[in-house]
Amino acid sequence: FPPGCRAFRGPLLHFLADPGLGKPAPGSYEYLQDGLLVVAGGRVLATGEAEQLLPVLPAATAVEHWPNSLIVPGFIDTHVHMPQLRVMASYGTQLLEWLETYTFPTESRFADQAFSASQSQLFLDLLLAHGTTSGLVFATSHQVSADALFAASDRYNMALTTGKVMMDTNAPDGLRDTAEASYRESRELIDRWHGKGRQRYAITPRFAATSSAEQLSYAGQLLADCPGVLMQTHWAENHAEIAWIKELFPERKDYLDVYDHFGLLGDHSVLAHGIHISDENRQRLAQTGTRIAFCPTSNTFLGSGLFDLRSAVDAGVQVGLASDVGGGTSLSMLVTMAEAYKVCQLRGQSLNPLKAFYMATLGNAEVLHQADQTGNLQAGKYADFLVLDRAAGPILKLKSTPDSDLSGMLFDLMILGDDRAIRRTYIAGQCRYDRDTVEGAALN
Ligand code: GUN
Ligand code: ZN
Repeated sequence: FPPGCRAFRGPLLHFLADPGLGKPAPGSYEYLQDGLLVVAGGRVLATGEAEQLLPVLPAATAVEHWPNSLIVPGFIDTHVHMPQLRVMASYGTQLLEWLETYTFPTESRFADQAFSASQSQLFLDLLLAHGTTSGLVFATSHQVSADALFAASDRYNMALTTGKVMMDTNAPDGLRDTAEASYRESRELIDRWHGKGRQRYAITPRFAATSSAEQLSYAGQLLADCPGVLMQTHWAENHAEIAWIKELFPERKDYLDVYDHFGLLGDHSVLAHGIHISDENRQRLAQTGTRIAFCPTSNTFLGSGLFDLRSAVDAGVQVGLASDVGGGTSLSMLVTMAEAYKVCQLRGQSLNPLKAFYMATLGNAEVLHQADQTGNLQAGKYADFLVLDRAAGPILKLKSTPDSDLSGMLFDLMILGDDRAIRRTYIAGQCRYDRDTVEGAALN
């Protein structure tokens, strides 16, 4: 090991493969009761048993010891809206009325560069405080909002994927772009940010209802022309939404066929929600490699419906887990796992805690094509990781015993835990959030 490396000691869990929805596949995860994570130059140098690694560290190596904690890879959020923090907890509406009443007016404010910059900074600080180190994020239709978010993320050396929302119809003045301008501005952002440091671009048509056919064609063209960019949108979230899409695109077979027709499906595409869908849709998703972002707190809060995780997984669809703030009610991926568990319960399915933690880490990294650099703590990856407090708050304290088994400990954390369980958040080896010394003015 080189001089100047640092080490973090404590119980450590990360995934090597998908544990599956049933009994967790052996070898899909590594749990070290006394682990050591060795970091240098922002990357993981080694992960292993403390007993084996400590003796071979250079003599002066700083070792942080976290005995009653759990070191895990940073959480990844596969669908979240930077401009919707203030939209959280908006009362009394379902999707379409919620968009018109609360969301569009709030997003209009992001035309202002200074506001976009301050909100982007706040958004990232809040992600870190909730243990989220990476994500696929919606900005607004204003180019400045995506620029501001990329700039803030780049300063933190965070792996973020975002894009300017494309929406040229069925939206108020001040939020609508034009098909032509959305193409040009997206291209400019790709040139400026895609592949700069850890930043990546996502072509972002909001959903089929707010884009003309011309704009959807441009989106498909961008996806075909720009290697490595992602595509994010919303799909099949709410019955009224689905009926509206049928009216807007009568010549298409169904909602998925709209995106298919414009070349928007593929393994770099992430569709949020996908609740009210058919087996044929699932087969098409699997065939094209298109991914779904399951957003449980949003789906229950907006009364959208219950996502069928088992059917998607059985059909071979890759499913990520996501907060969908501000339709969602928490940035915490622990809270998101708890709600995913409850949605599965209502479907007669059980989401085991290993699968839930897998989804929030390596699974989401795979969904976003970034498992070569994030998602677990194997040597060579970026050192994006968390120190979780297994006894955060009185109930977790009551339940956490030294001899609790791994599944029990993880289940307690996901059902009872929230941002209070995030003790430290590291991005590329740098501590960017410390629960005990929160200084960021934005967070106080
Ligand atoms: N469908 C179109 N726009 C949105 C949005 O901002 N949030 C959610 N949940 N669904 C959408
Ligand atoms: Zn959304």
